[in-house]
Amino acid sequence: STAPLIDGHGRQISYLRLSVTDRCDLRCRYCMAEDMVFLPKSAVLSIEEMGELAVRFVARGIRRIRLTGGEPLVRRGIDTLATRLGAMIGHGLDELTLTTNGMRLAEHAPMLASAGVRRINVSLDTLDPAAFRHITRVGDVDVALGGIAAARAAGLAVKINMVALAGLNENQLLPMLDYCAETGCDLTLIETMPLGEVEADRSDHYIPLHHFIAPLRETHALYPVEKRTGGPARYFAIEDSPVTLGLITPLSDNFCATCNRIRLTVEGRVYMCLGQDDHVDLRAALRDRGDVDGLIDAALAGKPRAHDFHIERKSTPAVARHMSATGG
Ligand code: GTP
Ligand code: 5AD
Ligand code: SF4
Repeated sequence: STAPLIDGHGRQISYLRLSVTDRCDLRCRYCMAEDMVFLPKSAVLSIEEMGELAVRFVARGIRRIRLTGGEPLVRRGIDTLATRLGAMIGHGLDELTLTTNGMRLAEHAPMLASAGVRRINVSLDTLDPAAFRHITRVGDVDVALGGIAAARAAGLAVKINMVALAGLNENQLLPMLDYCAETGCDLTLIETMPLGEVEADRSDHYIPLHHFIAPLRETHALYPVEKRTGGPARYFAIEDSPVTLGLITPLSDNFCATCNRIRLTVEGRVYMCLGQDDHVDLRAALRDRGDVDGLIDAALAGKPRAHDFHIERKSTPAVARHMSATGG
């Protein structure tokens, strides 16, 4: 089948999140267990296989691809994959993007720019070195900041992703906005989602974004703007600030009705929803010349209307797999 990707609820799927590894060089508390066990090499797709599947998805109407992980820049061969996917820009693909923790960005930013990437999202929950170490368990904030500077220098637009964490980074919103204004970045805030068993006190850190941004609202008006990036953020202009603010509110105000996304994991599984365990496995079909398109069609028909995250259940994971396995 080469029919466009329309799901059972009439939504057209045009955005593929491609998780190129489940591994990461950080251990963010809300994302991973401290003793996270990674997939064995035998379970993961090769760079060639991921490229081949991406080509098929573009043939089916995917217009945007976002490379994720784990941390995509720890995957060996990411340059080869980015170059192959970048070559489809203007030939079916509108945009190739990447979400990264920034640790290896200084090394890879020029490669990404020459592959055709124009904008990236960088996870940065705090500017405070001790808090950054606490949240990521192992990270050095200066490395992330150096990565962001290198990306800007390579001509990449940068959107900072800040997961709102009560008690851990509420005091960082205004400093982060100042940092973004200085460095020419935009800022997106994200509500923490309950995937996988992580630390026991996850639910204590959940805070709805309307509470998180209350201090900003006291001093600055926010104006909704029409900008769309394909993802779930709603965007706002901030009075007296060059920074565009994105809000991602899966729990307090879900956006499932307009979902245009699917996810392909490094094992070759297609997940139709971040908040659901149903998936199809393309790896065997790909390797045995099976009916990859037929499996994709079957998956689409079963894409759920909405995720299964509930504020009341925020302490129990909605799905067993970790965020790092599907790349968000
Ligand atoms: P652009 O809009 O293209 O900039 O990308 P994005 O913001 O969707 O991508 P990014 O990887 O930066 O993800 C930001 C946050 O949005 C992460 O926490 C993702 O898990 C979350 N997210 C992205 N798509 C979905 C979705 O379909 N459902 C839910 N619940 N969360 C999503
Ligand atoms: N809830 C919300 N966002 C998360 N991320 C990782 N884990 C979670 C979670 N449990 C974010 C990362 C990254 C993006 C891909 O998803 O910070 O920016
Ligand atoms: Fe790694 Fe990103 Fe998960 Fe942090 S949120 S552990 S940087 S994959």
